[in-house]
Amino acid sequence: MRKKVIAGNWKMYNDIPASVKLISELKKNLAGLDLKAEVIICPPFTSLDTAKTLIKDSAIMLGAQNMYFEESGAYTGEVSAEMLKSTGCQYVILGHSERRTIFKETDELINKKIKKAILSGLNPIFCVGETLEQRENGTTESVISTQVSVGLSGLSAEDLKKVIVAYEPVWAIGTGKTATPEQAQQVHVFIRSLLRKLYSDEAAEGVTIQYGGSVKPENAALLLSQADIDGALVGGACLKADSFTSIIKSA
Ligand code: PGA
Repeated sequence: MRKKVIAGNWKMYNDIPASVKLISELKKNLAGLDLKAEVIICPPFTSLDTAKTLIKDSAIMLGAQNMYFEESGAYTGEVSAEMLKSTGCQYVILGHSERRTIFKETDELINKKIKKAILSGLNPIFCVGETLEQRENGTTESVISTQVSVGLSGLSAEDLKKVIVAYEPVWAIGTGKTATPEQAQQVHVFIRSLLRKLYSDEAAEGVTIQYGGSVKPENAALLLSQADIDGALVGGACLKADSFTSIIKSA
């Protein structure tokens, strides 16, 4: 059985007071629930330390939204894997489409980050996904195939166990347009077949593949009922404790 994982990507939202409020509400909502999924929150860097303290006595786990692959040095504005570990992070989102498009991150750079994260004991949430243009051109599979094979290049089957893959069609992120459960399932099956080719049946079967892109309380249950959808990476809907809780309950 693969573990189900629901992660909340806060993006660049919530200062410290707003983070305290959201985490406190979420904790209250989740208290006493028999959780069937792992729950991760990924606040901005500035709220990680506060979050670490607040989630201490809860089932919530902590992730960051990005990191750099060097250990330390003259990299103004960057944060290392070790620094994230020291703020209590167990996860880090890497290769998010906003990093790829706005900050021009390449598959090669993402690969370096993934390797460093694993070496440092962080579990990467590795995002892949096609744009609307690529989907309409019929290149979804080749785009995802490159993202997956370059992104995971040099990783052993043992390393792969630490990785969560998140399929996030770019056209569905923040747009309110969700992939249908069938569309998402189809790409999840494709990603798993790639992992089978790159590694083995056993390795591929063990990888948690999340869907992300306008996941909401209204569509979460149907998406999560698909055989190869093992969780969700939630943006907008994780910024309200009640809607995030309802998605967690769907899992
Ligand atoms: P969304 O974002 O749920 O707001 O579409 C998902 C993401 O960017 O991870």
